[in-house]
This record gives sequence, structure tokens and C-alpha cells, in this order.
Amino acid sequence: MELPPVGLGTMGIDDPDAVAAALSLGYRHLDTARIYDNEAVVGGGLATWLAGDAGAAAGNRDRDDVTVATKLWIDDLAADAVGPAARESAARLGVDALDLLYVHRPRGDYDPEATLPAIDRLVDDGLVRNVGVSNFELPDLDRTIEVLGRPPAAHQTELHPLFFGPELLEHAREHGYPVVAYSPLAGGRVREIDAVVEVAEAHGTTPETVAIAWAAAKDPVVTIPKASSEAHLRANLAAADLELTGSEVAAIDAVEREAELFPE
Ligand SMILES: NC(=O)c1ccc[n+]([C@@H]2O[C@H](COP(=O)([O-])OP(=O)(O)OC[C@H]3O[C@@H](n4cnc5c(N)ncnc54)[C@H](OP(=O)(O)O)[C@@H]3O)[C@@H](O)[C@H]2O)c1
Repeated sequence: MELPPVGLGTMGIDDPDAVAAALSLGYRHLDTARIYDNEAVVGGGLATWLAGDAGAAAGNRDRDDVTVATKLWIDDLAADAVGPAARESAARLGVDALDLLYVHRPRGDYDPEATLPAIDRLVDDGLVRNVGVSNFELPDLDRTIEVLGRPPAAHQTELHPLFFGPELLEHAREHGYPVVAYSPLAGGRVREIDAVVEVAEAHGTTPETVAIAWAAAKDPVVTIPKASSEAHLRANLAAADLELTGSEVAAIDAVEREAELFPE
């Protein structure tokens, strides 16, 4: 899948206007999940933006330019639950097709031999355009490739200076699928990291911009920072344009790892 370097994480966003504002600023990848309980908010923002007044930008508003991604929670993963759950998500989002449907975690009712073919049937039906996985480890990723007969369309995993798995990036490079970095701002904690702050000061920018640029510089990573204010939305979208030197990237790579923010 082709995904832009910066998309919008929406966990905690409860105002459709924030989503519409992000689309107006140029975001083209929206990330939600059933468990965030805001698919209708995201769909509302998308609808507002699509219906925007007939201004100069109207010609640029095309539903098919936006990647709408959502996730099946762990109690949606039995073979007979996948279809109804995906249809409900699409209805809440107000879309005919889900551009990217993830297995949120390989837990609960997840059974690769049952869950993945059930999602793949939704691709045949046209309800789902791409099958993604999230929070997978290497054996889960290998099993996915065996069962689907192809790599996942994307792997969404936690990635920020305090936590990432280089082996997951290597797997994605080897098999040719993008990694979607979630919580790229460490949930708002990147300004506590000295190495990130130092690089930000050298560039006259913010630690958040540096964290996004650092993640986006990793092949094959795209990011989905969550932001609600227009200032944050703008700054994050522009962050991928910041070029870090090899030694700056290495200094942030060397930051001591912490426990992941979103364990089981
Ligand atoms: N697959 C999974 O299991 C999983 C798990 C967690 C998250 N995710 C996805 O990843 C997305 C992002 O992760 P996240 O929500 O945990 O956190 P995040 O993107 O790492 O950080 C978001 C926090 O940073 C603040 N922020 C954003 N831009 C900023 C800027 N330019 N300057 C200063 N502060 C800024 C936000 O504040 P404001 O809101 O005030 O702007 C918010 O408090 C989620 O929304 C979700 O879509 C997926």
C-alpha cells in the first residue's frame, strides 16, 4: 500500500471538526478502531470535508484519495464475527468500503487460519480493500504470509524513540509492506527525551517534529500522530519534511528503550 508519511491518529478525538480540519490541511490517512468508539466521529469529519462548500479546493476533495483505516477488536475475530463487525464499522464511518482493515491484536478470538481467510473474503466482496495487522510479532507476521499467501498490506506497531522493534522493520523491508508507526510522539512524552530535545534545538523546531521526522526517515515507516488543535495538525503534517543527519538519527536510535505504552 502507498501511505503518506504522516496520517492522523484519532484515538481520543471526539470532534468531527478536528477530522475535517485535518483533511482540509492535507491529511489523507485516517486511523481509527472500533475500540476507540469514535468511528462515527471520524466518518462525520470525512463527510463534512467531502461536502465542503464549493470553494477552490472543492475539486480536490475525493473520497478515494483518503485511506480510511479501522481495526477489528479481539472479540470481533472469530470467522463468523468478522463480516458483521466490518460492516458495522463501515456503516459508522459512512463508507462503502474500508480502505484498510486491521486485526487490532493477535489475541482473544484470533485464529490465523480462521480470521485471516474471513477478512480476505471481505476483500473479494469489495467491503475491504486491504488487510492489515497490528501489534504482531515476527512469528505472527510469518504465519500471516503463509495463510494469506501474501504479506499484510501494512503492519501497525508502536514506534517512537522510547520503544520500537528494529526486527519488525527488517521483516517489512524484506517482504515489501509499510510499517505504520503508532504513538510516534510517545503519547506526548517526546519532549522529556534529552536526545530529541537537543536535535530539536539544533533545528529550531519542536521535539514532536523531530520525533515524526526520525520515524518517517526509517524505511518503510509512515506515522499517525494524534493531534486535535490546528497548530499541532499543521506542525505534524510538515514534520516529515525535516531532514535529520545520520548522527542525529543515530543519537535518537541510542535512546534507552522503555516498556511499550500499549502492552497486552
Ligand atoms: N494499533 C494500536 O494498538 C494503537 C495503539 C495506540 C495508538 N494507536 C494509533 O496511533 C495514534 C497516535 O498515538 P497516540 O494517540 O497514542 O499518541 P501520539 O500521537 O504519540 O501523541 C499524541 C499526544 O501528543 C500531542 N501532540 C500532538 N501533536 C503535537 C505537537 N505538534 N506538539 C505538541 N504536542 C502534540 C497530542 O495533543 P493534542 O491532541 O492536544 O494535539 C496528544 O496529547 C492513535 O491516535 C491511534 O490512531 C494505535
